[in-house]
Amino acid sequence: MEDRGEGEEPAAGLHFVGMKEDLIKAKRSFRTLEGRDILVLYHQEIFYALDFHCYHAGGPLQNGDIEEFDGKLCIVCPKHKYKISLAEGESIYRATNPYDPVPTTRWYSKGIKQRVHTVTETDGDVYVTLSHMSRFIESDYFQGEKGKAERERMEAEDSSKKSITTS
Ligand code: FES
Repeated sequence: MEDRGEGEEPAAGLHFVGMKEDLIKAKRSFRTLEGRDILVLYHQEIFYALDFHCYHAGGPLQNGDIEEFDGKLCIVCPKHKYKISLAEGESIYRATNPYDPVPTTRWYSKGIKQRVHTVTETDGDVYVTLSHMSRFIESDYFQGEKGKAERERMEAEDSSKKSITTS
């Protein structure tokens, strides 16, 4: 991180995450803030920050494709393809309700599942303020000790599956 000099400390709660030009070049950056793993990403001239581990099973969102679904810009988790809106952390899915008089495939919402954080920019410096929404949001689980242990176990399983298929 850059030396910010005396008298230039950011306001409480603001975490400096990088210079704007560096973050734009990187497009996706991993940061740990107050012990929380965060993905900072830049897409179509906007910065977003959200929990790094997918709420569903802790998959890393870093390499997810970004696409628009139902008018919402979403990251698609590489692990099981869940779609999570970048702006709100809402999980959406497409389905057909067989009880509809004329069953038609449409988009449904599971609600806010991934915690998103606020990004601000001052003079080329980019800051993240962590979300303080008090209610539990599913992605919180994979930031805690239990979730971390579960992620590690799943990663170990995935890599042993890969080594079996490649040998
Ligand atoms: S871990 Fe992200 S969709 Fe399953």
